Amino acid sequence: MRTRTIDISGTPICELGFGAAGIGNLYRPMESAMALDVVADAWRQGVRYFDTAPHYGAGLSERRLGLALQELPREAQLLSTKVGRVLEPLPSNVPVDGEGFVQAAPFARRYDYSYDGVMRSFEDSLQRLGVGRIDILLMHDIGRLTHGDQHELQFRTAMDSGYRAMAELREQGLVKAIGLGVNEWQVCDEAMNHGDFDCFMVANCFTLLENSITDTFTERCRHERVSLIVAAPFNSGVLAKGSVGAGHYFYGDVPAEVIERVKVLEAVCGQYDIPLAAAAIQYPLRYDCVKSVVIGMTKGVRIRQNIDWYALPIPSEFWQALVDKGCIGAFPGA
Ligand SMILES: NC(=O)c1ccc[n+]([C@@H]2O[C@H](COP(=O)([O-])OP(=O)(O)OC[C@H]3O[C@@H](n4cnc5c(N)ncnc54)[C@H](OP(=O)(O)O)[C@@H]3O)[C@@H](O)[C@H]2O)c1
Repeated sequence: MRTRTIDISGTPICELGFGAAGIGNLYRPMESAMALDVVADAWRQGVRYFDTAPHYGAGLSERRLGLALQELPREAQLLSTKVGRVLEPLPSNVPVDGEGFVQAAPFARRYDYSYDGVMRSFEDSLQRLGVGRIDILLMHDIGRLTHGDQHELQFRTAMDSGYRAMAELREQGLVKAIGLGVNEWQVCDEAMNHGDFDCFMVANCFTLLENSITDTFTERCRHERVSLIVAAPFNSGVLAKGSVGAGHYFYGDVPAEVIERVKVLEAVCGQYDIPLAAAAIQYPLRYDCVKSVVIGMTKGVRIRQNIDWYALPIPSEFWQALVDKGCIGAFPGA
């Protein structure tokens, strides 16, 4: 597995990362033993970067990930988790369904982007993960998509208050890099005007289907040496399973209009004999400011498959054909 480096902090990161929302029971319950096995499998296959969040299964993903990694060398692992939701215990003490997760831990999520909220979330994550520091700390789901007309208020709190906590943690060496973890790149553009961020995790918005991020923002990141970690390169499934598969698009059913665009991509892939999923994984990595692609995986066989797709040689003519079809923008310097 090749590594790149997060620009400002100098943190090495492997190009293919493991997204741990699935082991927090995203969509369906998973036995803990299987969750631990799939993380061990990822490790055996060379994956060293793992992304989680308090949100994923209301703490379940962090607990399972921490257990799965506890006997593996900490210095070889790269861990990212997130702040912005504080978990409050529920009196019922029974597993809870909701927000896309099934049989999640019995905690309610409360948005809190304040200094105290960030510090509490960080400390809770250390305990669930069983570690003394976090490598990459991301402010989770700020932006209009999540907060609608509350965005301005939440954003101000995040930048004026929560950001100070994150910057302090970085100064103290308790985290190596700080950033946002969001489904909309536009809020990262906004945040760069307020704080000194090392990286942004952009999910579902740097894909073969959604790539307005390359219009101007990738160039800004390159210029200001801010790194991107691209999560959900399959747009939550459809770009792995294809137009006839049972994938998701942004965690819901795939709209007919998206299916049509997937068919166009598949036609170009067919001409060059390139699996669509291989193109989906490799597309963001063609940008220097992108340091890793984080995929949701809950089975060993998927990990093997994704590593093969990641490593498959793809000719430059294929990428040019996607540009010519208007599926993606021209690459920098092309
Ligand atoms: N705001 C944020 O910071 C944010 C937002 C979203 C995601 N993320 C991070 O990114 C990670 C990945 O996102 P994601 O899981 O939502 O989306 P994704 O990686 O685009 O897609 C995952 C889906 O693709 C399918 N898949 C994976 N490998 C496959 C293969 N080889 N063949 C066929 N299908 C395959 C899986 O299906 P099966 O379930 O059938 O295996 C899974 O449901 C998350 O776990 C999380 O760590 C962060």
